[in-house]
Amino acid sequence: MTSGIAGRIARLKKERQALILAHNYQRGEVQDIADFVGDSLELSRQAAGTDAKVIVFCGVHFMAETAKILSPAKAVLLPDLDAGCPMADMITAEQLAAEKAKHPGAQVVCYVNSSAAVKALCDVCCTSANAVKVVRAMDPARPIIFVPDQYLGHYAQVNSGRDLILWPGFCPTHMKITVEQIQALKAQYPGAEVVVHPECRPDVVAAADQALSTGGILRYARSYQGQVLIVGTETGILHRLAKENPGKTFIPVNEKAVCPNMKRITLEKVLASLEHLQHPIEVPEDVRLKALGAVERMLAL
Ligand code: 13P
Ligand code: SF4
Repeated sequence: MTSGIAGRIARLKKERQALILAHNYQRGEVQDIADFVGDSLELSRQAAGTDAKVIVFCGVHFMAETAKILSPAKAVLLPDLDAGCPMADMITAEQLAAEKAKHPGAQVVCYVNSSAAVKALCDVCCTSANAVKVVRAMDPARPIIFVPDQYLGHYAQVNSGRDLILWPGFCPTHMKITVEQIQALKAQYPGAEVVVHPECRPDVVAAADQALSTGGILRYARSYQGQVLIVGTETGILHRLAKENPGKTFIPVNEKAVCPNMKRITLEKVLASLEHLQHPIEVPEDVRLKALGAVERMLAL
């Protein structure tokens, strides 16, 4: 029974002095037992600031790794080690090193959706919440390589006015969201606004009223004056949108835009993670220190 598991998680969490962090795309029942639910930037800030002994990260591998980079003395647990991010896997440290060699003097901005080894080769990290701000803060006299998401990179390029060398990575889940779907829903719900995530393709972003991080979408929805909001991102966000905005209706652009990796985390796995302290994320210290520089420069902005 779900409530039984939730009760056992709550008891063990106290015993272990653990903090449970969950991304906005997690299953509703996982979000409901978390101490904090947020976007990538908000979760990094929580991981950096907590004095808990253990962090159970309900998200994907790069998120838990970022928490470990920021809080090396804590046990950072990922309840399912197979919860990866295909976009983060679209660039390796070797590929980035080769790209840097092609552009001598270039600075590198990496989306937080990347491995610690890739972050270690970057000047600064960004999330979808601050990509434009981070790109604007780069040295205007030097070229800028942006990895791995070509679409977030394109969005940051257009909104910062800076030229970026884009790596051809993408999110397979956000690729399922199309302009045709948006147009059909706009016809069905006249007057409804459309918010999408900047991981969507540029034509989708152009067809929307706003492109925002998941945290940004949640804030936007709270102050939204309309009745119906059309939402183009992973469908896990609908749980918090509905919970925080009774009386408003949220329509997913594509209800099949589901990230299978985010959904790997279940209540049973969170419980097992607390029981057996599994699965600890480790980052070699030399890599961690280099990656920390890129993450800290982002947090300082
Ligand atoms: P944000 O929650 O930071 O907007 O990130 C979206 C995402 O795809 C995480 O994998
Ligand atoms: Fe990666 Fe996309 Fe899943 Fe986010 S939604 S974890 S970017 S595959």
